[in-house]
Amino acid sequence: MTSYVTDGTVGPWAREKLDCLDKYLRAYTTILQKQRWCKAFIYVDVFAGSGKAPLRQYKNQADYQHPLLDVADFVREQEQETEIYIHGSPKVALDIQIPFTEYIFIEKDTQRISELEAFRRSYGDKRKVAILQGEANEQLQQNLLNNTKYNWKKCRAIAFIDPFGMQVPWKTIHGLGQTKAIEIILNLPVGMAIQRLLPKSGQFSEERNLMLTDYFGSSDWEKIVYEDQTGLFGEQRIKKKDAGQQLAKWYQRRLKQAYGYSSKPRLITNTQGSHLYYLLWAGPNQTGAKIASEVLKQGEVI
Ligand SMILES: C[S@@+](CC[C@H](N)C(=O)[O-])C[C@H]1O[C@@H](n2cnc3c(N)ncnc32)[C@H](O)[C@@H]1O
Repeated sequence: MTSYVTDGTVGPWAREKLDCLDKYLRAYTTILQKQRWCKAFIYVDVFAGSGKAPLRQYKNQADYQHPLLDVADFVREQEQETEIYIHGSPKVALDIQIPFTEYIFIEKDTQRISELEAFRRSYGDKRKVAILQGEANEQLQQNLLNNTKYNWKKCRAIAFIDPFGMQVPWKTIHGLGQTKAIEIILNLPVGMAIQRLLPKSGQFSEERNLMLTDYFGSSDWEKIVYEDQTGLFGEQRIKKKDAGQQLAKWYQRRLKQAYGYSSKPRLITNTQGSHLYYLLWAGPNQTGAKIASEVLKQGEVI
């Protein structure tokens, strides 16, 4: 048996995510390279991975279609072949025709860092890449938000935030938005992680309640997910059928308040249509919003 976290394989739906990223980044650098005031435009891969990942291929189709295959601690039987690799988000960003002036890759895993280093060497001097090993939120704070090298009146950045789970609390997301110069493309792991913390009963430990409030930056998630209904047994708290969609829409509204603009969430599903996560864009710029809405439109279900 192998764990997803340690073997780092990805499901075929990762291509959809990377395709959206590719399209948006191409538009972004094309526009920014023409802005004479803009001294630097930076790509930040907040959860960079190793640069490439084996694509899961299942002998057993039931496994292949399991809705939880992207869940961090999912343990599965070794019934698969993983000979095909797909390139990850760092390569998507490095290979666009008009490159970023700088690249920052953040990753905490030592093995993946060495693979990223080898990957960077393959580009020689063609790209300016900083690889930072450490915890994502801390690295963003130290090396982007508190880095005096970046004057946000003259620099722009886009952060691709693609965690396994709920590693990025609202505090970080909000902090990036407050620069009014940083855009984000975010994986909101509703199906993969968040839903698993939201039982139908609506009964939570204090600890879980705090964890969700910290993640969303507001305790209103409870009202979004649950409603009270009166039935035969009196008042009952029930989980809304469309709780995942409601959370994504609510999060979009919060992003809009923090950044100025946000895209409608694009749902990423597995091959059977089970909900995995939502991709959302947020930024300070109307043109960016139009492009992001176009890029994230396809497959939109809410
Ligand atoms: C879903 S993968 C990223 C995939 C990558 N964006 C791509 O598309 O190729 C998430 C990565 O984040 C790393 N990671 C998990 N928690 C982290 C944290 N708190 N800080 C930094 N990296 C983290 C994992 O080691 C893993 O490589």
